[in-house]
Amino acid sequence: MTLAIMSALLDEQRGLLEQLKHPKQVQRAGRTFWCGQWAGHDVVLVLTKVGKVAAATTTAALIDAFGVDQVVFTGVAGGIGEGVGVGDVVVANAFIQHDMDASPLFARYEIPLYGCASMACDAHLTAILLEASNTGLAGVGSHFHHEKLLKSPNVHSGLIASGDRFVSSAQDAGQVRQGLQAAGFEALAVEMEGAAVAQVCRDYGVPFAAVRTISDRADDDAHVDFSAFVKQVASPYALAIVSQFVKML
Ligand code: ADE
Repeated sequence: MTLAIMSALLDEQRGLLEQLKHPKQVQRAGRTFWCGQWAGHDVVLVLTKVGKVAAATTTAALIDAFGVDQVVFTGVAGGIGEGVGVGDVVVANAFIQHDMDASPLFARYEIPLYGCASMACDAHLTAILLEASNTGLAGVGSHFHHEKLLKSPNVHSGLIASGDRFVSSAQDAGQVRQGLQAAGFEALAVEMEGAAVAQVCRDYGVPFAAVRTISDRADDDAHVDFSAFVKQVASPYALAIVSQFVKML
């Protein structure tokens, strides 16, 4: 079994990298793949880069060149669901592309020639990730200076919507949420890679699970303190969750 752990940003990856035993780096497709062991498993750590195309390239390389047979993603997202607040965590049970629109040839959001709009994550791996998130985060404090985030975060499970833009206005967030609702989808969060990773994993038949810490509400303040949040909150959360996850595999 070889597990891939994907992150979108360097700060998110740094703490994970320190856990890797016998790390060896391999360059491919303009990316650095870190191969090693963690909790007795063969593991490959990689940055997806940002956006759906970059994430798809990274995932295909992982599977084709490194033979990974399980993929887990950790990162941050903007909360758009009711009650999904900054500092909460969302474990995805499925992904959809909020900017996919081949209408009128195909229904809005449907991925042409796949016959569906949303792609489910692997149920078994996702159940482990959900439990790892609940267990790993119990009692994890954070040191983020602008928000009172010292409570244990709420862990949600549901649909995450990916698209090739940083959603940074209440109006845009509202349009994304309402458009999806009109088609029968209730998204909890937006980000920029997950649906692409889910699609490539589905193409190859590789189980995939993903967890995102909510860094913002995808509104006009979405960019404020983004990098501080990633360093001070999302990175320790990712480490706490993944440390627990690899022990449970
Ligand atoms: N990742 C974190 N916050 C996001 C947002 N508001 N839009 C897209 N991706 C994000």
